[in-house]
Formats: sequence, structure tokens, C-alpha cells
Amino acid sequence: MKVQDLKHTGLKKWVEEAAALMGPDAVEVCDGTQTEYDRMIKIMIDAGLATPLNPEKRPNCYLFRSDPSDVARVEARTYIASTSKDNAGPTNNWIDPAELKKTMTGLYRGSMKGRTMYVIPFSMGPVGSNIAKIGVEITDSPYVVANMHIMARVGAKVLDVLGADGFYVPCFHSVGKPLAAGEKDNGTWPCAPLEHKYISHFPETREIWSYGSGYGGNALLGKKCLALRIASVLARDEGWLAEHMLILKITNPAGEVKYITGAFPSACGKTNLAMLVPALPGWKVETVGDDIAWMKFGDDGRLYAINPEAGFFGVAPGTNNESNRNAMETIKSNTIFTNVALTPDRDVWWEGIGYDAPGKLIDWNGNEWVQDKANKEQKPAAHPNSRFTGPAKQCPAIAHEWEDPRGVPISAFLFGGRRPKTIPLVNQAKSWIHGVFMGSIVGSEVTAAALDVKAGTIRRDPFAMLPFCGYHMGDYFRHWIDIGKKHDESKLPKIFFVNWFRKNDDGKFIWPGYGENSRVLAWIFDRCDGKGKSVDTPIGILPTPDALSRPDGVSDADMKELLAVDIEGWKKEIADVRQNHYPQFGNKLPGELSAELDAIEKRLNG
Ligand code: GTP
Ligand code: SPV
Ligand code: MN
Repeated sequence: MKVQDLKHTGLKKWVEEAAALMGPDAVEVCDGTQTEYDRMIKIMIDAGLATPLNPEKRPNCYLFRSDPSDVARVEARTYIASTSKDNAGPTNNWIDPAELKKTMTGLYRGSMKGRTMYVIPFSMGPVGSNIAKIGVEITDSPYVVANMHIMARVGAKVLDVLGADGFYVPCFHSVGKPLAAGEKDNGTWPCAPLEHKYISHFPETREIWSYGSGYGGNALLGKKCLALRIASVLARDEGWLAEHMLILKITNPAGEVKYITGAFPSACGKTNLAMLVPALPGWKVETVGDDIAWMKFGDDGRLYAINPEAGFFGVAPGTNNESNRNAMETIKSNTIFTNVALTPDRDVWWEGIGYDAPGKLIDWNGNEWVQDKANKEQKPAAHPNSRFTGPAKQCPAIAHEWEDPRGVPISAFLFGGRRPKTIPLVNQAKSWIHGVFMGSIVGSEVTAAALDVKAGTIRRDPFAMLPFCGYHMGDYFRHWIDIGKKHDESKLPKIFFVNWFRKNDDGKFIWPGYGENSRVLAWIFDRCDGKGKSVDTPIGILPTPDALSRPDGVSDADMKELLAVDIEGWKKEIADVRQNHYPQFGNKLPGELSAELDAIEKRLNG
């Protein structure tokens, strides 16, 4: 489709202005068809950027290798450019919006030379539903177009809903690598150097400007930028929740159904939990979403969640038929792989895929790689943040209601992170406000999902939203507290904290995780109905030692450790919150949370 044919005059003008600024060779409006997808892939094969995988093993699947500087989100280059710095708060980078637009306009000038500008109309949430939000992404990356086809609903049907004057979030994206006359990418992933990368959000004007990165959440702007950073601002203003959460459906042996959401930081197990195959006989888990939940109140006072996405952008390493069979089935066809390794028979391989590397591989840098298990220093063949982009509808465990615009009623929220010590396997909040307090202090070992944060260290990641909250985190805490005040607490989801990542002194995981996590989900399920054996402790409501069924290989002593209340460890935790975490929010820290902090400290000392 041509720009001239756009019916929405505001959109047409915006596209024309962008084209004048960025100077592409051609402009195309995306229609979202398979033909278009195939054409994008062909362009990238011709440019030496896409490797077709073996059609016998992975039909319609392609491998991409990105630039080593462009392998994950760049938090230090991500900005919340609200008019006042105070609205971005202490946890976001801020630049004055006028200044940032000036800098970025300079970068965008001529940035698409030698390339085509694609205009992608997309819907987060089912097309036409009243909870869906429409965005339009302008990009010079066919990789982004293809990925957006999988991750969102894109094309002509979205323009139909938008009509002549509908609201959309305008999103600029350029990889920041114009081509000189005759120049080709020639196998080199196009992007700009780190100091020119900007992932910018203008929350007041609902705009997104991204420059210099072609990877994941930096470039697929419907995901983190729109569905979390901008949507969190809309949610605050309109009284709903936009969260970094998986959504699962769980059915017990009696056939009773509940829906649960869970917020864990990046690369901390959302995709795996959403697709879990229960080790517990008789239980069933189905997937509604694996990364983002939008939740609104129904007329019955309950909170209903939808998954705004249409695909999974999931972590590859560690994914195998034992840990996540449903993901493995999902990505058998029609999937884009980025930064995994290539086998001699043109299949994919990664660390933790469940079998040894079959012969000489090509690693994510494009170099030959032969597995050397004796060499503990060997660099991985797949980047730790290598990912698959797969269609949600291909997941064998997808719940039939996953696209229901009414959403699913939520019974429980889970929060958690990677904590080798102190935090128990599961812990139920005593009340809504206690749950909000616990969510506000969530800590986790940093993973490879962000490029510029040191992996392995523990950092506080409140509600798993640290990199995704589009406004002041203190106001975000206030929003959560207000939800509890404005609504009937008995109808709100119960709040739980889980930790699958406890380690023993040898550094080994004590809890086997994955499908075995169903044992914890079963207890949570029962607790939502006021059942399940429990004990009230200073830190929250824990299962009694016999309340959880025990996986093979987990001893009495292990179980005791997993469910222990580590008073000394918690005192340190609380002291750290008091000294280092809460003070950064200044007078925006809700008094209710300081009161919870005092109360837990008193209980620990009592
Ligand atoms: P984002 O897409 O970055 O938001 O991450 P996510 O929360 O969806 O993470 P994902 O489920 O992809 O998990 C990331 C890593 O954690 C993978 O390497 C998994 O194998 C590992 N993992 C997931 N669940 C468990 C578990 O229960 N136990 C252990 N030990 N590891 C797990
Ligand atoms: C995350 O980092 O939480 C992701 C991957 O889900 S990305 O979309 O790249 O942000
Ligand atoms: Mn995520």
C-alpha cells in the first residue's frame, strides 16, 4: 500500500514528515500478509543477514546474527522524557523532551538513506477490541517488520479499525545506518554505536522514538515501549494495570479453573511458567501470555487480564524438551531465531537444548565452534540472551480463551526473582498492602537480558518493572496501593512470592523448578479458596512442611531450607531496603509502605 492511500490524514502527514526527515529511497505501508513476510525474509537473505534453516527440520524458520553491540535491551540508553524530571523518577534516565527531540532529529536526518521506510500499523490486543491499543511503527528494518508480524497484529485490518481519525501511538524506529550509493549490508547487522543508541519515550504526548538498535525490545516498539512504558502511564491515568507478567490458566484434578499472573524480572522464568507441564498428576496448565498483562476491572469487581501480544520473544538457552516442551513445539516452524548457533545440518543449537552440540557449529558471532566440555572457560555458542520469535497460536498449550477481548479473571499475582538465599520457595502476603510492600522490594540476580547491567549481582527490581515503568516508581507504588483502596479486597487477586532459584553452598539449585513448580502452584490454587495448610510467620504466610508434595531428589532437609524463615537474612534484607532502596523515592514513597517496613522489622525483632 502507498502512503497516498492512507485514509487517516494525521497519520499520512506524520509519515510524510518522517520520510522527509529520514530520507528513505522508498516508503511502504505494511499490509501484514504472508507475502509481505516472505518478501522481508527474501530481502534479508539477499542482504546476507538471514540464514534459512533446514526446511525438513524447521520449515519456514530463519536465523539472524546481530552485532555484538546489539544483543539485548540497553537500559543506560533508555529514556523517559517527561516534561518534568520528577515524573520520570529516580529509576529512569531522563532528558528534557525538547532537547532529546533535537538530538534525535539530528540523528534521524537522512538516517534511512539507501533503505526503504516501512510503516507498520499494529494492534496490541485483538484487533478492534475495546482494550486494544493501536500503534504505528515507522522502521527501516525488514527484520523488525517480520518480527512485528509475529509479535503483534499488523497491517490493513488495523488501518480499518483506525479509520480516518482514530488514536494511535506514533513510533519512530531507525537502525541508524544509512547506506551510501551502491552500498549493501553485505552480512553486517546494521545498527549505530552504543553512544548513539536512544530508546526514548515521551509519556505526555504518547510518543516513542527509537534509534540505533535493531534488537528485541529496543526495536519491536509494540512490546516494552508501548505495551509497558507508555501503557503503564495510561494505566495510571485510567485506573488499570499494565504489567511485566505472564498469564496462565490452571485446572485442578476436580476440573476447577483459575487464572494466575506472575511478574518475574527479565529472563527469570515467565515463559517457562506460562507453558509449564505439571509434574503433579491430574493438573493442567495452559498459556494465555508469557511477558505482558493488561488488567482492567470488570463489572463484577474482579480484575481481568489480556495478553496484548501475539507471539513469544523467548530466551533460547535452557529451553529444551524437559524444561519447556511447549516452547520447543511452538518454535518448530515459522520462527525467527536470533543469536543462537547453527548446526552442520542447518538446525539451531544452544546451551541447555538438551543434547550435545552435533559436530562443528557456527556460533552466534559467525565463527566455527566445537564443543569442548573440559574447557569451563569456553565461550557459549549461543548468546545468553539469544531468542526465538514464535507465533503464540502455535503453542500446543495455548488456552482457547487467549484472544478473548474480555480477558480472564485473575485469582492470584505471583512475584519473584532469582534469589540464591533468604527468600523462601513460596510466601503468601498477609494483605494487599503487605503484597504491594513485598512487590516493591523484589530483588533478583541480574541476567543477560540487558546489555549494560552487570549480570550476576542482585538488584532491586520492583514488580519486575524497573526497566519498564514509564513514570516515577513512587507514584507507581501509590497506584498499586490505590487499587487496593478503591476496590473490594476480597475480590482482588491474592499475592504470593515465589523463588525457584535457591542454591546450596555448592552453588546448585535446591529446587528442580520447571514442571515441579506445579507443586507450588497447587498450594497457591488452594490458598485462593482459603484452603491449603499454612503457617503465619513474621515474613508472611508459608506452607507447613507437609503442605507441598515433594519432587524426587528433594530431601526433608532441602524442603526445610526452602521453607525456612531466615530471620537474620531478612533483617539484612530489610536494612538494605531502609538504607538503600526506599530513600531514593523521597517524599513520593507512600507512607503505607514505610509503615509496612516498620511492621515487618518489628515482627522480625519480636
Ligand atoms: P523475559 O522474556 O526476558 O522477560 O524472560 P522470562 O521471565 O520469560 O524468562 P524465561 O522463562 O525465558 O526464563 C529464562 C531462563 O530461566 C531460561 O534459561 C530458563 O531455562 C530459566 N528458568 C526458567 N524457569 C526456571 C526454573 O523453574 N528453575 C530454574 N533453575 N531455571 C528456570
Ligand atoms: C525482557 O528483557 O524482559 C524481554 C526481552 O522480554 S525484550 O523484548 O528484548 O525486552
Ligand atoms: Mn520481558
